[in-house]
Amino acid sequence: MKDSIFHTPDLLTPAYVYDQASIVTALDKLVKLKEKTACLPLYSIKSANMTGLLEVIKPYVSGFSCSSLFEAQLAAEVLDEGQTIHITTPGYRDDEWDSIIQLCDFVTLNSTNQWQRVAKKIDADSSCGIRLNPELSFVSDDRYDPCRPDSKLGMTFEQLAVANSKQELNWESIEGVHIHNNCESTQYQELKQSVEKVMSGLSEFNPEIKWVNLGGGYLLNDKTDLTPLEDTIKWLQEEFNVDVYIEPGKAITGGAGYLVSTVIDLIESKNKTIAVLDTTINHLPEVFEYQYQPKIMDTSDKGKYEYRLVGCSCLSGDLYGDYSFKKPLEMGSRIIFENVGAYMQVKSNMFNGINLPASYLLQNNSFKLLKQYSYDSFRSRL
Ligand SMILES: Cc1ncc(COP(=O)(O)O)c(C=O)c1O
Repeated sequence: MKDSIFHTPDLLTPAYVYDQASIVTALDKLVKLKEKTACLPLYSIKSANMTGLLEVIKPYVSGFSCSSLFEAQLAAEVLDEGQTIHITTPGYRDDEWDSIIQLCDFVTLNSTNQWQRVAKKIDADSSCGIRLNPELSFVSDDRYDPCRPDSKLGMTFEQLAVANSKQELNWESIEGVHIHNNCESTQYQELKQSVEKVMSGLSEFNPEIKWVNLGGGYLLNDKTDLTPLEDTIKWLQEEFNVDVYIEPGKAITGGAGYLVSTVIDLIESKNKTIAVLDTTINHLPEVFEYQYQPKIMDTSDKGKYEYRLVGCSCLSGDLYGDYSFKKPLEMGSRIIFENVGAYMQVKSNMFNGINLPASYLLQNNSFKLLKQYSYDSFRSRL
């Protein structure tokens, strides 16, 4: 992507920009996988959920996967007849069950307690599954690892065995199995290993399952070898006669997303020149949460002009880091953050009363405004 496209005055900053061509390239990979293996691809709407974006993704997937009642309501609004809504969360609430069952075609339970309370309520229109925790950790940072010690995410085989021995589980109500135990991996070998472990552990209980959901947590870049994924899908279909779902999020939206901002002040300090942007880490919350330095277009280790880039909120730690540019920055220069399409827009907030970025879809070199916020958006939450 050339940076010049982001310099048009048509684009109000700060702005999230989703490049439709990149999204479609990622979705084409899913479509090819579907053609090759007959798996059923879903999109995990938690990663980015602007309705204009969901409309772009919708034609390529069998449905959406959700994490809450509100996401399920949004999915129901956007999807067409025949597309399916899937949900899993550790956070089901008693007062939301009726709506969730009414909206969702596939409901995955997370614990013995949920299973006992809810499985019997699921009607013939919904299929009930159980999330299993394969206890295989591939992520070194516990904050991203669904299999961290004492994880809340999915039942372990030990928990299953205990509940089963107490006759707390009604296996007849369970038609599916869900796993999700990775993050930003390109190693589908790890998925294969997890699935084999889960299916072998499950055989002890002999359930009659109709579907397996392989979760998300994997990327689909050009270097990704999909063979272990294809093999796993075919193995599940042939050995167990099940439908196989996958539900990527970041693989679709991550690389397609940019945050475009403008330099609104330059401060000469003792050791640095500080460039203040019209954005803030409120708009890139994962940068602050996980303290990493985001990638910015047109920066280079060899650049002559060094700046500390900071956000415009009151927080002194609202900064992105030190970057070198080939040309000096000026008031009004545009700074373009790359690879921020996933888990940024959905987590953004209005701390300090700073407005949210507008969102745009980049289609055939022109920007289509998806959403813009105003004082009313700020005020209506108070
Ligand atoms: C159950 C489940 N499915 C799918 C996803 C999507 O993961 P990703 O965006 O990494 O593909 C997540 C992410 O947290 C998840 O928890």
